[in-house]
Amino acid sequence: MNKIKVAVVGTGNICRSAHMPVYMSRDDVEVIACADIDLPKAQAFAEKFGIPAAYASVEELLANCKPDYVDVCTWPAAHAPVAIAAANAGCHVMCEKPVCHNLDDAIALKEAVEKNGVKFMLAVPLRYGKNAQHVRGLVDEGVLGEVYYGKTAYVRQRGIPGGWFSCSKYAGGGPIIDIGVHRIDLAWYMMGCPKPTSVLASAVYKIGDYREAPRVDPVTGKVSANNAWSGAQVADYKFDVEDSASGVFRFENGAQLIFETSWSFNGPENNSTQIAGDKAGITLEPLKIYKADGEKLVEENIEGDFDGDIFALEIDHFIDCIVNDKTPSSDIEQAVQLQMMLMGIYQSSKEGREVKFEY
Ligand SMILES: NC(=O)c1ccc[n+]([C@@H]2O[C@H](COP(=O)([O-])OP(=O)(O)OC[C@H]3O[C@@H](n4cnc5c(N)ncnc54)[C@H](O)[C@@H]3O)[C@@H](O)[C@H]2O)c1
Repeated sequence: MNKIKVAVVGTGNICRSAHMPVYMSRDDVEVIACADIDLPKAQAFAEKFGIPAAYASVEELLANCKPDYVDVCTWPAAHAPVAIAAANAGCHVMCEKPVCHNLDDAIALKEAVEKNGVKFMLAVPLRYGKNAQHVRGLVDEGVLGEVYYGKTAYVRQRGIPGGWFSCSKYAGGGPIIDIGVHRIDLAWYMMGCPKPTSVLASAVYKIGDYREAPRVDPVTGKVSANNAWSGAQVADYKFDVEDSASGVFRFENGAQLIFETSWSFNGPENNSTQIAGDKAGITLEPLKIYKADGEKLVEENIEGDFDGDIFALEIDHFIDCIVNDKTPSSDIEQAVQLQMMLMGIYQSSKEGREVKFEY
């Protein structure tokens, strides 16, 4: 069997710690090249993982080799240029979240993907978890009835990643873009990806960069002001993103999704997602179903084997789509809709009104 040839672009943390271990564990994959604008970093990466070639740009990489797909792991502002170059070279594309740092780039990327007839998958690993897949299966079978409600949160009391993550020029935004995207996509996916029609939201810029004042855990005494995750440092760094955001999306089918996200918030941490229909509702953490049985209210654990590396499951899905000519779940159409939802949060907050999405 021919191996799937992969090129990785952006040899930073997510590529090293989450994607490469999956590629290294698969017999059907060969990472043939890597690239990073920091060439010594790409060269060290190539040496660490035994990758035969390292380049300083995607253009140079594509001039020298023809991967089956390019795995885009740069900061968000570079996602579209890198992904468009890959699509124009006839390569499939897997791209880290968020798809881009603005909506125009996402639309340009969609055009490039469609024009070149390549496959595109947005890397949103939570939806590929076995628990989320199981819930979506129950929704598709009609077990929940008409799903009209979702509530999702990715709230950190304190946890700003380092480097470019808090600089809008590179990231496009703060926690909305970094972590809110994971939970919003997860809930939207579990609800069946109804077409978004509007958002009413507020993004808050109050606490700012608190990192001079580390938080001491009252129980352990551990100092944990900074999230351990750090992106590359950038010379023109400026902290100019939101602390937190909350709001509500509405969908064409009448459903609504309430969300909260933060890197800095004076309240409890919250990582949770639930959806509800007219026959039953489900919480993901813990995985439980809630319904009425006649007069009786029932609350049951959903049992099963839901373990598994979400990055391995995500990559497995994309490779299956390439090998068996299927459309990825988080395809370019959904990636653009998700970007519209994220960007709508900022617009709604800025203009102080509900923003209707235009198609
Ligand atoms: N799925 C997840 O759970 C998860 C977690 C963290 C980060 N991410 C996403 O992964 C992406 C990368 O994040 P990270 O934490 O690895 O950041 P990082 O800073 O560690 O790595 C990004 C790398 O991209 C390189 N780069 C920037 N522009 C480039 C270009 N045009 N061509 C080639 N290389 C370029 C940088 O030099 C850097 O080495 C981001 O989109 C981020 O949102 C996803």
